[in-house]
Amino acid sequence: MGTTASDAGATTTSGATAGAAAGLDSGTGARSGAADVRPATAVDRPGGVDLADPAFWGLPAPVRTAAFAELRRLPAPARFGAGHGRGQGQGHGRGGRDQGFHALVRHADVVEASRTPDVFLSGPGVTTPEPARWVRLLFGDSMVNLDDPRHAQLRRIVSRAFTPRLLSRVEEDIRRVATELVDRVEHERPRDFVNAVAAELPFRVICDMMGIPAEIRRAILDQVNHASEHTGVARPLRERLRTPGRGLRALARMQGMVAALGRERRRRPADDLISALVTADVDGRRLTGRELGAFFSLLLVAGVETTRNALAHGLHLLTVHPGQRALLLGDLDRHLGGAVDEIVRHSTPIIQFRRTLAVDHRLGGPDGPLLRAGEKVVLYYGSANHDETVFADPEAFDITRTPNPHLGFGGGGPHYCLGAHLARQEMKVLYRELFTRLPEVRSVGEPDLAPSSFDHRVRSLRFTF
Ligand code: HEM
Repeated sequence: MGTTASDAGATTTSGATAGAAAGLDSGTGARSGAADVRPATAVDRPGGVDLADPAFWGLPAPVRTAAFAELRRLPAPARFGAGHGRGQGQGHGRGGRDQGFHALVRHADVVEASRTPDVFLSGPGVTTPEPARWVRLLFGDSMVNLDDPRHAQLRRIVSRAFTPRLLSRVEEDIRRVATELVDRVEHERPRDFVNAVAAELPFRVICDMMGIPAEIRRAILDQVNHASEHTGVARPLRERLRTPGRGLRALARMQGMVAALGRERRRRPADDLISALVTADVDGRRLTGRELGAFFSLLLVAGVETTRNALAHGLHLLTVHPGQRALLLGDLDRHLGGAVDEIVRHSTPIIQFRRTLAVDHRLGGPDGPLLRAGEKVVLYYGSANHDETVFADPEAFDITRTPNPHLGFGGGGPHYCLGAHLARQEMKVLYRELFTRLPEVRSVGEPDLAPSSFDHRVRSLRFTF
């Protein structure tokens, strides 16, 4: 995610898979309390699974689900992508020999890595594969890729826009946008839920919050679509970074437009987020034009793409689980909050983020597997959200699940999703409007999913009412 996510970091690449036979050293012993303290060692394709192979992410969902269940049973995190000289697999760094990454697939491990930020760093980058250094230099760092103190400083500035008080003002706006979108659905009878509704709502809400003038919104959306058009497995990442294509140029253009707006609002502040960000003086700092551009790109990827995918997955889940749908529609007030969280848990719109070890660390306590300084770990939120030691019958879609300590918005800690409250608000308001006015609304057929190791992207979803 971050400045470069949709174009550089968020994409699986085609090409070679992890090849080195590193030896399966984790087949014995329980993780905790093991008498022999074993380092977490490279496990090459346990049970034939290879998370570093882009092909894995194109496999049918039940196959991937079973693979993660298998990985969760291993006594130590498996390692993938190690040993590539040329590295088209996901674990490859910037040149040189790739050390791969450890896959954190259990709920407890993802929580630990998220909440121990001085050990599990974000600064070296959170996307896999890594964007080239020049991409970060050119576009600036967004907060997902920063550690304290810079992260805390930036987060203090931008979190002013996400306080419950300010978000209660946004609620009106969400309602107005949701009403307009459902009006349009009724009149124009579009076929694709993603384009007509799911992508529109969060984009308009962010633009309203930021104060993006109506006349340049289309242009920004066009640039975003260009920037993310290669999301998926279509074109190898390294190829794209060597020949920066339309995607990155589009991102640069979009950031340029936002930076220009920032300069204008600094001169003539208005009642919007851009003005607040460029005039706020927190710790003697305010956002520079470049930081503003980086933050806006982050919001578009983090706040628009994710919510759009969650909304689409939700409509489909509520279509293929008629019992849960009837329960929800029978008492929206009672079940809407639970339904939204269960949709985020079950579909987990963001699949993974990465961290890099600052120091040697034993996972789960002194007897746990050893992770070494400099090694990378990938936090698989979807796997954590289906961890059977935390969620009874994890594959079931159950809107009454209580408690529901899912990690769809992250595992806690300083990078926990800044927009979690806003996302829940958007989903609740939209579903309420949709199901109240069009109670027969449902998806038709299967969603068209883009194979990706980063997000559960729904390209399109046919629907009817
Ligand atoms: C269903 C929708 C959403 C999902 C599933 C989601 C998920 C996530 C996840 C997994 C993270 C990383 C957490 C971590 O590293 O611990 C994150 C971070 C973030 N999200 Fe969201 N998000 C959603 C909606 C939004 C919205 C609506 C916004 C804002 C408009 C937003 C803004 C952010 C930001 C700014 C960060 C980075 C925070 C930081 O690094 O300090 N997200 N999100």
